Amino acid sequence: SRTVARTPEGAVTVGGLDVRELAEEFGTPAYLLDEADFRARCRAWRDAFGADADVFYAGKAFLCRAVVRWLNEEGLNLDVCSLGELTTALAAGMPAERIAMHGNNKSTEEIRRAVEEGVGRIVLDSFQEIARVAHTARELGKRQRVQIRVTVGVEAHTHEFIATAHEDQKFGLALAGGGSRPDAAGGPAAEAVRRVLQLDSLELVGIHSHIGSQIFDTSGFEVAAHRVVGLLRQVRDEHGVELPEIDLGGGLGIAYTADDDPREPHEIAKALRDIVTRECESAGLTVPRLSVEPGRAIVGPTAFTLYEVGTVKPLEGLRTYVSVDGGMSDNIRTALYDAEYTVALVSRASTAEPMLTRVVGKHCESGDIVVRDAFLPADVAPGDLLAVPATGAYCRSMASNYNHALRPPVVTVGDGAARVILRRETEDDLLRLDVG
Ligand code: LLP
Repeated sequence: SRTVARTPEGAVTVGGLDVRELAEEFGTPAYLLDEADFRARCRAWRDAFGADADVFYAGKAFLCRAVVRWLNEEGLNLDVCSLGELTTALAAGMPAERIAMHGNNKSTEEIRRAVEEGVGRIVLDSFQEIARVAHTARELGKRQRVQIRVTVGVEAHTHEFIATAHEDQKFGLALAGGGSRPDAAGGPAAEAVRRVLQLDSLELVGIHSHIGSQIFDTSGFEVAAHRVVGLLRQVRDEHGVELPEIDLGGGLGIAYTADDDPREPHEIAKALRDIVTRECESAGLTVPRLSVEPGRAIVGPTAFTLYEVGTVKPLEGLRTYVSVDGGMSDNIRTALYDAEYTVALVSRASTAEPMLTRVVGKHCESGDIVVRDAFLPADVAPGDLLAVPATGAYCRSMASNYNHALRPPVVTVGDGAARVILRRETEDDLLRLDVG
């Protein structure tokens, strides 16, 4: 949403602010996030799904108090998956009933806090957890609303490490039965439903499925919806109960490079609605309330990382290595998933020929790559500022202190004003933890 322009000497401005001044004021590396764009994306999701569905922003993509306030104001709910995320959500005033609690191995403390605070739903991920949540709710004299996370056997078309609904992985309870009972009735998911329905301290409100992340195609979601409705039908037939909710998770992809062609919220909303409605009607089921959990698609495109070039090293016959002042500690995605990013010189114009570079960080290992193959002007030099777009999701939230790096700040930039929402770590922050 913010206007990107160039000054007469060719420096990029965002929302009217010169990146050189932003670098001066906030330091580099820094994540520069567009609040107006974040809010607009929240509204696009809300509008696409409408009043009879719920959008839960996946806090794992990026969460801090300002984000929670924006979500609250834009009418989104929040998916959290740890005590830390839950604490942040509550501290910033998200009503507990609009929070969903996830995780495949929630601790006793996480379960207790979630139940005590009265979160709107806990998404159950194992048989042990069914017993634990039921026990805690009973002890606290509460009836906890829960969903059961199922794995539908869909392998999303994405990087293997982040596909979650195929068979051999840790999340959820499988729909299909194993061994002598390959049908759903004999599967762990159906058994989980049986157990939850017997427990007075749990209220089973629905079924949850999340098939993966950075997905461009709606067909995986459609297969998931089809199979989840199949379970609802079976639950109705076996127990005479119609579960009122379906959550189809997150996973919608964004454009990291020009080759990526993401779906819009209204496309995914229409595809999900159509299939859920059609399948429920043909099964004679009341259409359940639908919810989704986008993370990346909301926050990913809203931020870029601003770096300063420190060294430039041409390797004869190979390429030129351009080192910036961050790296795998502020963006692990390239090293971890072979993720692709683009990069641009933003502090000045250049008429130099494009040159093949690899933009790398300052960490002590050769896998510390920010952009694997990048064309930058051949005169790129120390002191230049580079911008890497689409770093709003899973960059600050997965940032580390590797090599005792200080994690960069998140600064909102737009409409001629910039504001720190998450400050840069300091040496004192590091030493404060070091109590030996
Ligand atoms: N709901 C559940 C239950 C999830 O596990 C996830 C992501 C989401 C929603 C949000 O998915 P999204 O809309 O953001 O794709 N670190 C990886 C992504 C891991 C996603 C894990 N779960 C990355 O950087 O690509």
